[in-house]
Amino acid sequence: MPKKILITGASSGIGRALAYELAGRGYALALTARRMETLEEIRKDIQVRHPGVTVVVHPLDVTAFETVPGVIAACAEGLGGLDILFANAGISRGEKVGRGRFDKARLTIETNLLGAMATVDAAVAYFLQQGHGHVVGVASLIAFLGFPRMASYGAAKAGLAIYLESLRAEVHRKNIQVTVLNPGYIDTPLNDMLKSRPFLVSAEKGAALIAGMIERKVKRSTVPVWPWCLLGRLLKWLPTSVIARF
Ligand SMILES: NC(=O)c1ccc[n+]([C@@H]2O[C@H](COP(=O)([O-])OP(=O)(O)OC[C@H]3O[C@@H](n4cnc5c(N)ncnc54)[C@H](OP(=O)(O)O)[C@@H]3O)[C@@H](O)[C@H]2O)c1
Repeated sequence: MPKKILITGASSGIGRALAYELAGRGYALALTARRMETLEEIRKDIQVRHPGVTVVVHPLDVTAFETVPGVIAACAEGLGGLDILFANAGISRGEKVGRGRFDKARLTIETNLLGAMATVDAAVAYFLQQGHGHVVGVASLIAFLGFPRMASYGAAKAGLAIYLESLRAEVHRKNIQVTVLNPGYIDTPLNDMLKSRPFLVSAEKGAALIAGMIERKVKRSTVPVWPWCLLGRLLKWLPTSVIARF
């Protein structure tokens, strides 16, 4: 039986690349995002490349919190079950604090934290009922340390990481695994406007690494592991004068 995975934010970047990677590994896919036309194109393309693979697509805006459980249920029904949630949908707006852009900060928290929590909450309810499941959440390296113009983004990612660590303790002995991923720089439309993206990896390479981490059910990891596993720890020792230049 192929593993069944639901991916949020599957219309672009990491989510899209992971859909192709897992299709190649024989997974059945439920792909969600707001851009339904793009999801349809991806579905058709995957089914041309991997004719035996099941792909269902469903529109989902993770900030429409009350709609999330229904979408999870519809996807699970379309796949005939659900083994893994990949909670990945996210935005980055790059606003500064106190400059009249609280609207951007709020949208970032609503999407990256509350939207992810709504998705995880609905999937865990499903997993508890069926007696097994695997939750994978995409946090960020930024969860380790606050950077300028990333206050709401970092707060959302740090919040999500702690939320998922708490969940892991809650579902201990319930046959539900929880993975927290902290990517460094993966080449996607989210960050392709940045001047500097140290240790950048392609979306395809990032997806292959993530697929391996999902299959090994790692508890937490940077993506890629090296050098971020070390640099992530060292970041918090940087003086503020250095961080301010980022
Ligand atoms: N790229 C990196 O280096 C990096 C590093 C650390 C963490 N991350 C995290 O990785 C995740 C994926 O980012 P990415 O780099 O692949 O960015 P991306 O290419 O911009 O993709 C973001 C995805 O999220 C979806 N999305 C955004 N708002 C949504 C909403 N309200 N409801 C549902 N879906 C929504 C988008 O689809 P629609 O617009 O079609 O809805 C899109 O599919 C994000 O959580 C991001 O914070 C990325």
